[in-house]
Amino acid sequence: MIRPLAAVLLALAMAGCAPDGKEEITLAPTVEDAAVVVLSQPLAQEFTSALQAQLGAAMAEGGPMQALGVCHEEAPRIAAAIAGESGAQVVRISDRNRNPAGAVSDEVAPFYAQLAEQPLVDNAPATRIWQSGEGDAARMNYLAAIPMREQPCSACHGSDIDPELQARISELYPDDLATGFTPGELRGALHISWPIGAFFE
Ligand code: HEC
Repeated sequence: MIRPLAAVLLALAMAGCAPDGKEEITLAPTVEDAAVVVLSQPLAQEFTSALQAQLGAAMAEGGPMQALGVCHEEAPRIAAAIAGESGAQVVRISDRNRNPAGAVSDEVAPFYAQLAEQPLVDNAPATRIWQSGEGDAARMNYLAAIPMREQPCSACHGSDIDPELQARISELYPDDLATGFTPGELRGALHISWPIGAFFE
């Protein structure tokens, strides 16, 4: 059975995307997928805008060297705060990761590869939704592409990184793989996953 909260959110999403009632299921192929989108999208937006605000302020104030500290400390903190509020797991991953905890697992790899093929769809980050695990341990997963951009990303993930900044990156992340990206390429992805009980009982 669909849980009441998920059902209400789902109804809102469908009303929102199909005011004339004609294109009801275009949001996602199944009811389960639609519920995952409705619950996950606001978290993805919250993460992105919170991090962008902090990153932008630090870049303006002290340039990439100061902003490096923000990414290092604030990105995991914001993800943990959103996870704590929502009950979802929230983590940024990459097949060329900087944070050692951000590798792409075998389970996620096929979905990640699909995002890498086409990071943007209609100018919005590509997403994938799937169910993993069995029984009570099952989870609903939402993966959203994080495309590489010239500004401000290339200062810290591009090919021409200031030597002093590079030294600090190597100090904080001795196994860093997250440089040499070009704009438009997939830089990473935001993986949000929910216990199945958040949707069905
Ligand atoms: C000031 C330097 C800096 C800038 C600018 C920057 N990043 Fe990062 N980025 C980092 C650091 C440091 C980490 C590791 C954070 C951590 O420890 O979780 C990181 C991690 C990431 C990750 C998580 C995966 C991984 O490799 O660990 C993604 C995805 C990412 N950045 C995307 C971007 C994008 C997209 C932009 C531009 C909008 C950007 N970054 C701008 C420094 C930066």
